[in-house]
Amino acid sequence: MSKTWFETVAEAQRRAQKRLPKSVYSALLAGSEKGVSYDDNTAAFAQLGFAPHLADLPAERSLATTLMGQEISLPVVCSPTGVQAVHPDGEVAVARAAAARGTITGLSSFASKPVEEVVAANPQTFFQIYWLGSRDAILARIERARAAGAQGLIITTDWSFSMGRDWGSPTIPEKLNPKAMVQFAPEVLQRPRWLSRFARAGYIPDLTAPNLVNPGEKAPTFFGAYYEWMQTPLPTWQDLAWLRAQWDGPVMLKGVCRVDDARRAVDAGMTAISVSNHGGNNLDTTPAPIRVLPTIADAVGDQLEIVLDGGVRRGSDVVKAVALGARAVMIGRAYLWGLAANGQAGVENVLDLLRSGMDSALMGLGRSSVHELTRDDVVVPPDFTRALGVS
Ligand SMILES: Cc1cc2nc3c(=O)[nH]c(=O)nc-3n(C[C@H](O)[C@H](O)[C@H](O)COP(=O)(O)O)c2cc1C
Repeated sequence: MSKTWFETVAEAQRRAQKRLPKSVYSALLAGSEKGVSYDDNTAAFAQLGFAPHLADLPAERSLATTLMGQEISLPVVCSPTGVQAVHPDGEVAVARAAAARGTITGLSSFASKPVEEVVAANPQTFFQIYWLGSRDAILARIERARAAGAQGLIITTDWSFSMGRDWGSPTIPEKLNPKAMVQFAPEVLQRPRWLSRFARAGYIPDLTAPNLVNPGEKAPTFFGAYYEWMQTPLPTWQDLAWLRAQWDGPVMLKGVCRVDDARRAVDAGMTAISVSNHGGNNLDTTPAPIRVLPTIADAVGDQLEIVLDGGVRRGSDVVKAVALGARAVMIGRAYLWGLAANGQAGVENVLDLLRSGMDSALMGLGRSSVHELTRDDVVVPPDFTRALGVS
């Protein structure tokens, strides 16, 4: 077996940590404040159990489904992540891997690669947008994504600019100029393989956000864009309904934790929501999305499609989420660690692990398709679920 193949996402994470400079790894790990939500996102999945059968198991299992009008070969999508400098091919490698495994890739507004290149690598690309800048600027961005061929829009508004982590935040330079290189030399030189990847690609990581401007215009730096975002008046539900109406196709609202917000997403005309706490990166102590999924699915599951993201590391996690009401899940760190460990092949490796883990769980549960999963397939401990925004 190839030495680059890894058998679990935990191993991909270990390799990412070994391979990346400390600041880059720490930017990938992210989290916020005490990391309570970050920990709960994975711990909650481990609290759920299965009740497997031992005979009459289905000889074949189908993982294929649809999401927001797209056919996908498994209910796992790459979530948009605005992380750069992990690998020279960045979002293009992720897009290629998702395409090779028959699924959608989400592209962040803060991504390092132009949307045109990413759609060329995976026609099933959903473009993610923040409420950043004027309405005209937002329109220009989605118009660019539409012209490039993006098939869906993801609106993310669950960011409250919380600052600080008990384990420390990485220093990220505004620009990788000679001064920054000297500052970061000690940690980068300890990771020669990471450096050599960029040396082979012929450039150093670019910390700009090219999809925030028109093609050919000078891209803002990550921090310049972040500052503008902080200055932008916060969106209302009316703004979100307006934004939804600008996209003539499926739209997902990402970051829903509460039943009342899920209902408002229905009213605003969303095609889908992602039940998410932004991977535990935002308002710490927000419960794990898998805890709030069942009540949200009960409330709006027949009115729009429900996706879950946060803490998915195994195929069995995907099966639990689908059984509790999600149509599909989105993954973040799992594929980022795969990308850091082994580029496009590492992301494919992660998707393959999730596929085979799902297949095993379906077999054990006696289900021949993801569409047959029900809540009875999962052992949910008392006091597991949380009902937020239910009056
Ligand atoms: C490093 C990092 C950067 C992220 N950047 C974005 C982003 O730009 N836009 C967005 O909608 N979500 C972003 N997210 C959140 C992910 O899309 C997703 O909600 C989260 O990673 C899911 O949790 P998981 O990492 O446990 O799978 C980011 C997450 C991480 C870890």
